[in-house]
Amino acid sequence: MTARGIFITGTDTEVGKTVVACALTRGFKALGLRVAVMKPVAAGSVRTASGLRNADALALAAASNVPSTYEQVNPYCFEPPVSPHIAAKDAGINVDADIIRRGFIALGQSADWVVVEGAGGWLAPISERQTMADLAWALGVPALMVVGVKLGCLNHAQLTRLAIEARGVSFAGWIANHAQAPMARVEENLAALERLLGEPALAHVAYSPRETPTLALAEAAARLAGSTSAF
Ligand SMILES: Nc1ncnc2c1ncn2[C@@H]1O[C@H](COP(=O)(O)OP(=O)(O)O)[C@@H](O)[C@H]1O
Ligand SMILES: [Mg+2]
Repeated sequence: MTARGIFITGTDTEVGKTVVACALTRGFKALGLRVAVMKPVAAGSVRTASGLRNADALALAAASNVPSTYEQVNPYCFEPPVSPHIAAKDAGINVDADIIRRGFIALGQSADWVVVEGAGGWLAPISERQTMADLAWALGVPALMVVGVKLGCLNHAQLTRLAIEARGVSFAGWIANHAQAPMARVEENLAALERLLGEPALAHVAYSPRETPTLALAEAAARLAGSTSAF
């Protein structure tokens, strides 16, 4: 596999992982790169004539420029919007990180980058024994942390960063996403994030409901693509 991968995690669910993953995918495309996408495990989907479909997986697939089947993008798709380990147990399915890893490698054969979006936060369980962190580790790619800028994010961002490092996954950086209307004292909070995380954000995404569906993070993608770290 010649492709490079990146695992998009976040400080919580609903912090903007999908928005950022799609925007980075468009950013890599703007650099002329072939970008495959994965939402390996999704819980919360609708029944269609073709089977279960999850909105995150569809949004990622729409942003990608590498042809793939729905099942390649989202091998584990569960209907109820609950923790994946509960949805998987209900469905009698074992989420197998090795199957996901093989799918990831196959997608990477025809791509320069594979952008992978986790479900929930970094330690969200995918089975009785494994979490999203184990999946990122199994894929062998660095984790990019989306910080949902809101009250509580200073704590959640540090916890997530520490947990990424504790799992032995390399940290690709963080993106500040304003998924909600501005929080109080936002500039001081952003300065605190930069100080506590020890590095500036790769990008700041403004609160922009109308622009997020087409947003392209070209500069952040270029910085990731130019990075020489081992991923
Ligand atoms: N920068 C932003 N501006 C406006 N709305 C946003 C922004 N980022 C995320 N959202 C909205 O917040 C919600 C959660 O974002 P999403 O990317 O789905 O989060 P996650 O993938 O982490 O669950 C979605 O409705 C999304 O459109
Ligand atoms: Mg999402």
